[in-house]
Amino acid sequence: AQKLLIDTDPGNDDAIALYVALADPSVDVVGVTTVMGNTTLDNATRNALALLEHVDRTDVPVIPGAARPFSDELVTAEEVHGPGGLPEHVREALPEPTQEPVDGNAVEFIVEQAREHRDDLTIAALGPQTNLALALAVEPRIAEWVDDIYLMGGALTVTGNVTPMASFNFYVDAAAASRVVQEATPKLVGLDVTERVYVSTAEIERLQGEPEPLSTIGDILAFSIDEVRDKFGNDGGLASDAVLVADIVAGLLDYEDAYVEVDTTGGPSNGATIYDEHGVYGHEPNCEGALGIREDASYEDIVVGRLEELA
Ligand code: BDR
Ligand code: CA
Repeated sequence: AQKLLIDTDPGNDDAIALYVALADPSVDVVGVTTVMGNTTLDNATRNALALLEHVDRTDVPVIPGAARPFSDELVTAEEVHGPGGLPEHVREALPEPTQEPVDGNAVEFIVEQAREHRDDLTIAALGPQTNLALALAVEPRIAEWVDDIYLMGGALTVTGNVTPMASFNFYVDAAAASRVVQEATPKLVGLDVTERVYVSTAEIERLQGEPEPLSTIGDILAFSIDEVRDKFGNDGGLASDAVLVADIVAGLLDYEDAYVEVDTTGGPSNGATIYDEHGVYGHEPNCEGALGIREDASYEDIVVGRLEELA
């Protein structure tokens, strides 16, 4: 199985992404590193532990990372994800964690894992890229050692979700995002694709009627149904981070070589994705951008199929 390290700020969609990865036998989750973002680092770490407990996967270590961005003040998204990073009723339904976080830090863990599983480690970064940027600063060779680095973040051809210009994960720590984009030739899974695929309301309601753990997982997916209807006029639940994991486990996205910069100038476009679509700069590509959904793949089938394995 492909070794997978998940760096995350759970977070509703982070939770779905984590469940999908844990359920798929083609990936072996070597650890979950946590980062501030949707909520504080402490809440994100606690949520990660509770989510693993929920599906009896306390064998997966949780390693806390950055509690604040490089230079910006911490901006969280609790109004979107719920106080403490998950909806209140979901936090209450999840079991009390029995596992403690690892007494170490995410940056060391990322470097160690990249060294140990050279050419056989994929990193999925589902929150602000602070931990990864710090790891690259400590050990730049991780960019060569890892198989692939996937970042959920960016809005290459669409508008943002936290400001008109910026996607949340790039906005929270624009300097870190810029670092990782420039130094790690990542695969960028941005709002361009993540806001286009859903699990339908009918499927979500069916999951909510199943025994645990599926009922709570259904509740997590249900959380964005109103937002999806109001904002996009579509039916279903949105889980941006799960789109990235669905691509890793089953192939969902089409990528194009791209040259991208992240705006770090601190003004109204801070954290914006500057995508040189027409090669105006004449620079070599520095990443691969997910710009299309494969016609032969179904996001809903990938996600629901994996989640059902957890029953
Ligand atoms: C991203 O921002 C966070 O709120 C989500 O967890 C996801 O990682 C979507 O822009
Ligand atoms: Ca996230």
